Amino acid sequence: MRLALAGKGGVGKTTLSATIARLVARQGLPVVAIDADSNPNLAAALGIDSGSVAARGFLPSGLVSRKPHGPALTESVESVLDAHAFDGPDGVRLLRMGQPEHADEGCLCSAHATVSAVLADLGRRDGALTLMDLEASPEHLSRGTARHADVLVLVTEPYYRSLETVRRLAILADELQIPTVTVLANKVRCEDDRDAVVEFCERHDLAFAGWVPWSDAVIDADVRRQPLLDADPDGAVVTAVHTLVEHLDVPIPARKS
Ligand SMILES: Nc1ncnc2c1ncn2[C@@H]1O[C@H](COP(=O)(O)OP(=O)(O)O)[C@@H](O)[C@H]1O
Ligand SMILES: [Mg+2]
Repeated sequence: MRLALAGKGGVGKTTLSATIARLVARQGLPVVAIDADSNPNLAAALGIDSGSVAARGFLPSGLVSRKPHGPALTESVESVLDAHAFDGPDGVRLLRMGQPEHADEGCLCSAHATVSAVLADLGRRDGALTLMDLEASPEHLSRGTARHADVLVLVTEPYYRSLETVRRLAILADELQIPTVTVLANKVRCEDDRDAVVEFCERHDLAFAGWVPWSDAVIDADVRRQPLLDADPDGAVVTAVHTLVEHLDVPIPARKS
């Protein structure tokens, strides 16, 4: 299953991606997390220190060739993982999209093509979760980078500009024919917040995946540079993410008794 999280900047994509990835990995599913933000910080949210992940580098662009149906990997996805994934907490394997190294460097076309090809091939692995943390722009959809996602979660805060971003992203996702597109409300402070997102979804014919409350514990964890799952494992946000994972039908293996 390939799950991508998109939405306006600051809505909580990275915090939620890291929490979903580690929760699911703890339940026994192999998880690959892709930081597809050109301003990357998924490593920190997972609990990987910046020095060790820097040594592993980014996904190089020489891994793909152009085929008529789009970019394709020139080697197996397993060898890409072995060479470029960082092994993080709970067994989550982290890949990071190529980054601009210098000012005035030009576009990120090849970095996007590489992520797209990796995502395509990761879909051929049964019984595994690939989770992609997207950047706060429509580029992953307008360029088609996220076309191989099975589920796109559009994360929103309960206010107009954030919801409008979701509406625009949903149109692009529809054009890419992503099979499941669903809206997740984050930083919900009261019933009215949640109801506003539900009403928006109904008005625009969008599926509603659920809601995650506002919690000061998330900010506190950020300030202490701790992953939320370590800082507040039994808190309201982690509990809500558990519920979300169930709602999304992530294929968690049955526990052996
Ligand atoms: N449920 C929440 N309650 C309170 N703060 C949150 C919540 N989710 C995320 N945050 C905070 O919002 C800010 C942006 O989160 P982040 O995950 O980096 O967003 P994005 O990746 O969408 O830009 C961070 O300071 C984070 O701690
Ligand atoms: Mg982010």
